[in-house]
Amino acid sequence: MTMYKKLEELAARRARVQAGGGSKRIEKQHSLGKNTARERIQKLLDPGSFVEIDPFVEHRCIQFGMEKVQAPGEGVVTGYGTIDGRLIYIFAQDFTVIGGSLGEMHAAKICKIMDMAVKMGAPLIGLNDSGGARIQEGVDALKGYGEIFYRNTRASGVIPQISVILGPCAGGAVYSPALTDFVFMVEGISKMFITGPQVIKAVTGEDVTPEELGGAVTHNQISGVAQFMSSTEEQCFQQIRQLISHIPSNNLEDAPVYKTQDDPNRTSEELNRIVPTDPNKPYDMRQVIREIVDQGQMLEVSAHYAQNIITAFARLNGRSIGIIANQPRVLAGCLDINASDKACRFIRFCDAFNIPILTISDVPGYLPGVSQEHGGIIRHGAKLLYAYSEATVPKLTVITRKAYGGAYIAMCSRHLGGDHVLAWPTAEIAVMGPEGAANIIFRKEIEESSNPQATRQEKIREYREQFATPYQAAARGYIDDVIEPSETRPRLISALEMLITKRETLPSKKHGNIPM
Ligand code: HXC
Repeated sequence: MTMYKKLEELAARRARVQAGGGSKRIEKQHSLGKNTARERIQKLLDPGSFVEIDPFVEHRCIQFGMEKVQAPGEGVVTGYGTIDGRLIYIFAQDFTVIGGSLGEMHAAKICKIMDMAVKMGAPLIGLNDSGGARIQEGVDALKGYGEIFYRNTRASGVIPQISVILGPCAGGAVYSPALTDFVFMVEGISKMFITGPQVIKAVTGEDVTPEELGGAVTHNQISGVAQFMSSTEEQCFQQIRQLISHIPSNNLEDAPVYKTQDDPNRTSEELNRIVPTDPNKPYDMRQVIREIVDQGQMLEVSAHYAQNIITAFARLNGRSIGIIANQPRVLAGCLDINASDKACRFIRFCDAFNIPILTISDVPGYLPGVSQEHGGIIRHGAKLLYAYSEATVPKLTVITRKAYGGAYIAMCSRHLGGDHVLAWPTAEIAVMGPEGAANIIFRKEIEESSNPQATRQEKIREYREQFATPYQAAARGYIDDVIEPSETRPRLISALEMLITKRETLPSKKHGNIPM
């Protein structure tokens, strides 16, 4: 064969792979508002940066007529490229080829890319669109999943792993995403469940649509399995690019520092007015965050789940930070089971990837209630204590208002290793709120008074003035300073620069035993 002929053959083979499952199936994919695997990669990565690996891999299954089935690219496109010029490894399952189902060689392509991502220290992005284990391949398909889970786990905390659900994701296929750091879903397109509606109907008799069972809203709002939601694939890709800008490529690097136009010495008079004089009135903690961070920009993680706590990436003078903040507008900012889980996972991501943590605290306590106690608030709440205590990245804390009892300790107090703790003059740092405290410690005086109601109010006021302030904590050095709210941004930037060389190592151990 002449060189010309060989090149012709190469081009023909490549064209067959690139055609995926053919025009009919591609049309069906488009009619559902979905892009193909290759279109998705092109839209997500920097233009022209994608280089494919393993386009000619083929399955070797000969059961159930599979010996006659052509599967271009083995139903998954894999390779590397860049986002904002930074190296990324990526795989995209191709639903047009045997429903993107995962067989032995499909899994081998994914595993190869995962191994390269770990070796080179670059983020891994998986675009999932698959009918799950390729049924014809039996146990070889299960082996493929197992090898992916194993790698997901080994890579955890070494490289960022991002899963994007862009179609059905059933059975074991949901567990690889669940093992990764962030799950993105698109409304109307993404579905995740262990067992689908038909099996549920047969086993429990429950009627549920796929969307209700495992759609983007369900997993972002109710289960907390997914952290990001969008209405189109294109919007989802923008979110991923934004996330990548906040995180380092691996655990040995820092997140990129971006030049900002926002003055590090900018003060905000708005912050002096934001906390209402009535301690029972809520305010929007998002507004506080926006006033503090560069250009008022933040990327919320799990924005729709456990909204009584906010977790977000933002920047201070160009440096990436992770923010954990109570939201007084939801459940008065109480800590409950879901908020503890949400915050804990975010803290551990930031700590694993060298992202300093800013905690903003306005918390009346852990949420009381039988369902919380029976649901294990003790165990879940303990995660927050554990995650903060374990984290060795710079830890900054600002107490804006309430910081009561166990929740004061939990929200990155000095006692859990907070490196720089600031309080606003509106801070109330005490064992409990004035109403509850007065009822207990002044009970006798209130009962014996000729006007119990007036005495009670008097005692509440007395307690509030003496104890519900930042000055008792400041007198013991538990907080580093009481600051004017307007100067929060410059003070935090100064503290962050001061702490950036922080070195702290944990005692040598195999691993801790975080309460699960
Ligand atoms: C082989 C599969 C497949 C699978 C889909 N296909 N899933 N082939 N193994 N798991 C094929 C179909 O036969 C079809 O081939 C093509 O992909 C497109 O599928 P459709 O059914 O036409 O598409 P749609 O109507 O959109 O429905 C998509 C679907 C459905 C909801 C995903 O295909 C489905 O329910 N598939 C099975 C899901 C499942 O039970 N998977 C196993 C989970 S158990 P043609 O040739 O007609 O185009 C599991 C265990 C792993 O994953 C455990 C690991 C620990």
